[in-house]
Amino acid sequence: LPVLLREYRPPAWRVDHVDLEFDLGIHRTRVDARLTLRRAGPAGEPLFLDGEGLRLVSIALDGRPLDVTEYRLDEHGLTIAQMPDGAVLHTCVELDPSTNSALQGLYLSGTPEHGFLLTQCEAEGFRRITFFPDRPDVLARYTTTLRADPARFPILLANGNPAGTGLLDDGRLWARWDDPHPKPCYLFALVAGRLEVLERAFVTAEGRAVTLRIYAEADAIDRCGYAMDALERAMRWDEEHYGRCYDLDVFHIVATHDFNMGAMENKGLNIFNAKYLLADPARSTDDDYRHVEAIVAHEYFHNWTGNRVTCRDWFQLSLKEGLTVFREQQFSADMGSHVLKRIEDVQLLRRAQFPEDAGPLAHPVRPDRYSAIDNFYTATVYDKGAELVRMLAGRLGPAGWRRGMDEYFARHDGEAATVEDFLAALGEANEVDLRGYLVWYAQAGTPQLLASGRYDAAHRTYTLELRQHTAPTPGQDVKQPLPVPVRLALLDAGGQPLPLRGASAQAAVSECVVELRDAQAAFTFVDIDRPRAASLLRGFSAPVRVEAGFGADDLAFLVRHESDGFNRWEAAQQLARLAFDRVLAGDLRAAEIGVWVSTVSALLDDNRVEPALLAELLTPPDALELAERCEPFDPAAVYRAREFLEKSLAQVTGARVAARHGQLVEAEQGALDGASQSRRRLAGRCLGLWMRADPTAAAEVAARRAAQAPNMTERLAALTLLAHHGAPQAEAALGDFAARYADDPITLDKWFALQAQIPAEAAVERVAALRADSRFNLRNPNRVYALLRAFAARNLVAFHRPDGAGYALIEDCLVELDAINPTTASRLAATLKDWKRLEPTRRVLLQASVERLAAAATSPDLADILRRTLA
Ligand code: ARG
Ligand code: ZN
Repeated sequence: LPVLLREYRPPAWRVDHVDLEFDLGIHRTRVDARLTLRRAGPAGEPLFLDGEGLRLVSIALDGRPLDVTEYRLDEHGLTIAQMPDGAVLHTCVELDPSTNSALQGLYLSGTPEHGFLLTQCEAEGFRRITFFPDRPDVLARYTTTLRADPARFPILLANGNPAGTGLLDDGRLWARWDDPHPKPCYLFALVAGRLEVLERAFVTAEGRAVTLRIYAEADAIDRCGYAMDALERAMRWDEEHYGRCYDLDVFHIVATHDFNMGAMENKGLNIFNAKYLLADPARSTDDDYRHVEAIVAHEYFHNWTGNRVTCRDWFQLSLKEGLTVFREQQFSADMGSHVLKRIEDVQLLRRAQFPEDAGPLAHPVRPDRYSAIDNFYTATVYDKGAELVRMLAGRLGPAGWRRGMDEYFARHDGEAATVEDFLAALGEANEVDLRGYLVWYAQAGTPQLLASGRYDAAHRTYTLELRQHTAPTPGQDVKQPLPVPVRLALLDAGGQPLPLRGASAQAAVSECVVELRDAQAAFTFVDIDRPRAASLLRGFSAPVRVEAGFGADDLAFLVRHESDGFNRWEAAQQLARLAFDRVLAGDLRAAEIGVWVSTVSALLDDNRVEPALLAELLTPPDALELAERCEPFDPAAVYRAREFLEKSLAQVTGARVAARHGQLVEAEQGALDGASQSRRRLAGRCLGLWMRADPTAAAEVAARRAAQAPNMTERLAALTLLAHHGAPQAEAALGDFAARYADDPITLDKWFALQAQIPAEAAVERVAALRADSRFNLRNPNRVYALLRAFAARNLVAFHRPDGAGYALIEDCLVELDAINPTTASRLAATLKDWKRLEPTRRVLLQASVERLAAAATSPDLADILRRTLA
């Protein structure tokens, strides 16, 4: 039965203190928990504690062992009917971490001989460690004592401040941790094993001395320096921009290669997927560096948005995730380029979130029901959630936003809050009513914004008419209008903003925000010259699809003249979309194609355009974005049409991009500064175009760069191009790469992922062979994502091969994976959601696959995804 938002009840029992003792072993761990319980609900209500897969060794209430008749155990947990209003419950349970392949609760990373023990509790993993009310609104203080063989487990970590360590009479090591901050159990963590450490001192703005430590296995510890620098930057930034200081004496991060997600913000003890923590110039791409910085910051920022103020229930997940993603976006923009960061975030939204919102798995940012909460760690909750926060921040302006956030922290520190609490704090601190934004949290689907402008020469007025429409989504047939903030400028023939008066603008301004609140509205600007073009939704001021009816010439004008970097890129994207539509319709000589090619290729000669932005301006939207323009969806046709655009641009730019590539890589030293990264991005793009213009010459250069470039960004980009264009040098280059990085799982994942995406039908056989390769391991989520999810989510040609071989391959893997790791299985299965949109041949095949899988699914997670996929 699903859990429903409207059925929320406050907990019947509070836990004031949790005293945990672990006797740790790879195959057997014993957990003693002493819970200080207090009745919070009506008298007579039984105590229920969640617990899954636990072997109960003993149980006692206030020191008295309970008789088997005094409690009830089932597969969900433990019930005690007769309870005093306050008591200390002591349970002792045993677990086997070595067999925990789901990677939730306490599990083993690596091999029994050399690996280490760690935990993952969010969302509902703590119930696999001990009996507890496993819900985020039960906040308690924790003391954790770890005991283990010091030879095997010299490092023993848990949340909070260190509170003593020593040797027991039996020779075992013990360490105690004391966390003074009340927390929900999903933030509990422990780590035990042989780990190396990198340490740095930090003093907060409030004067607290904090020791920062990053732990990793011996072969990885020298790759943690960049993460440490990023952590320091994030800590400072949160102090400066939100007035938030760190609140413990230590801050620890641990890296593991075995992790379902990106990272986890456990209080004072963040645990990271190694792929988002380790970085070094020889092996990491520029993208990797950016991801490490962003995710280190994201998890750190959770200390206030998530941990100090947590969520009342899992429906409120976006309260911490959307907000924290937004804070990370602000930080990353400040560390690098605001325009490029915005472009990347919008790309992610369009490639992952828009399709999610348009398909069978669509759900509101705040869902109102779930059967398996792990299936809601989605692009909608995270990334659309961040867009909602961005709209709120924009509505309040920088000072109002800070005032509102200060109020939110002041009101809810140490509490479990709701989206309503958040909007109330922000609004009341600024004396504005933000409750209208709740609809955004409650309503799924991407709104369509229709815009049309009209100039009245006689009255010198410009009227912008806006209309909104949201298509029905599963379970929501009728949609309400949303508040849509539209940031805009009106440009003259030289691209300069015209002074705006009227609408929401009082004094003349060059840019303003109008808010559409109803299904439609008109905004009139007065005393204005005729604009040459309207620049709408600047900075992507709302997560909508805009349809402004601009023709290719208007868009070309914006590409040439728009001063807002983001909207300049956006105009180039829209122009490419128009061209794509013509190609898809078979009109290969359409004017739009030529306008796109000539407009963006002309930018190559404009040395004022920053190289990384130029690379983006020269790139048509990703196939995943274009896919939605094809109805019914023919994946191969989408790939071919996009490739036609690429080739058209390549033909015109061939000689120029070859020369530019040469210049860009001539001075290349592998430095990490922004200008070097920017040049590498353009170099990659130039090589990609050159590869289409003159494959023979470009492949020779690519083969050299793949082997010899002094940075991983170029080596990987070159190798990818060789493989994806079937260059004769590809197989040898792939072999060299695999040999060179044989002992580095993170880099080898890149090798798996790039082959999974080779856009040729024969890639099915390659992926099947790689799955059978001894280096592949279905138990390792990173490898599963690298090979199988990259294939299913990104390979339009091979995964969607018309004979169904790609579907069969994934179906087969999913059956096996579900028994090992349901979280990973259901994330892989989410790639099947587009079946209904497919053209008939493929649709029949994929539907049959999904139906067989739904019948075979054993985990609630996979069953839930497939049931919704089919509904
Ligand atoms: N809270 C983590 C983050 O920083 C993600 C944890 C996801 N865990 C899960 N079981 N779905 O975003
Ligand atoms: Zn998060």
